[in-house]
Amino acid sequence: MKSEKELVYEYHRLSSWDSLLNHPNTTSSKSLFEVEQNIEINDARLSKIYLDYKKIPEQCISDLVSQRNSAKEMVQLEDINILELGTFLKWSVGNKLNEQSKKMYPSAGAIYPNKIFLVVKNVENIDSGFYFYNSNVHSLIKISNDDTFEDALLQEGINSNVCCIIASHFESSEAKYGLRGYRFCLLEAGHIAQNMLLLANAMGWSAAPIGGFKDEVINKKLNNKLKAIYLIPIGKQAN
Ligand SMILES: Cc1cc2nc3c(=O)[nH]c(=O)nc-3n(C[C@H](O)[C@H](O)[C@H](O)COP(=O)(O)O)c2cc1C
Repeated sequence: MKSEKELVYEYHRLSSWDSLLNHPNTTSSKSLFEVEQNIEINDARLSKIYLDYKKIPEQCISDLVSQRNSAKEMVQLEDINILELGTFLKWSVGNKLNEQSKKMYPSAGAIYPNKIFLVVKNVENIDSGFYFYNSNVHSLIKISNDDTFEDALLQEGINSNVCCIIASHFESSEAKYGLRGYRFCLLEAGHIAQNMLLLANAMGWSAAPIGGFKDEVINKKLNNKLKAIYLIPIGKQAN
């Protein structure tokens, strides 16, 4: 019987490229379309909010990168308006302008197995609640009135306007990459998180990448094929 730690290394070994070539999942014939169909949130009864966006004024990239920090104590900004939220989402996780099938972050095989949800608590002209971000039409789809996520946190002091949830559909990536697909989901979530952190900084907001949370508290809010990877609350650094 292998220990948990041994299993982790075993997974890493099994998902190394050499092992992978022999792994049965690599040649899975499950179509990506079929997998995608299972997770699209297409319920016409759900209300949609179409977002707009604008270009962010030029800023120094060295400053943006060096001034980024994780807000350990966060309070709400007085106001985030709907245009600002749309601007943040467009440039961090939206579809590219001239290549609609691609997004603002890299994705192994351009599969984009990660999905973005938002817990909206205090954004002007958007009811608080739980939303899915549909980058294809740059809109929010309201899933429920639930505007909580704090019960998933292991820490106190986070009072945000919005919390972004990055959730992976492992199957999409595994359909093409076998066991390595899991690694690719996590790597992609890191790219998304970094875009969000830098964009939040560019908007004059504070944000934090939170990997320490109770998975099940968040996962039960999601389609059961999606697993939460990262939480990114957005607000203002408390003094
Ligand atoms: C994978 C990962 C998980 C993290 N999880 C948490 C977390 O659960 N709570 C938290 O307050 N910060 C979390 N952080 C933020 C780190 O504490 C922070 O990046 C580190 O202290 C360096 O500070 P800086 O981000 O301000 O440069 C996480 C960072 C990473 C990369």
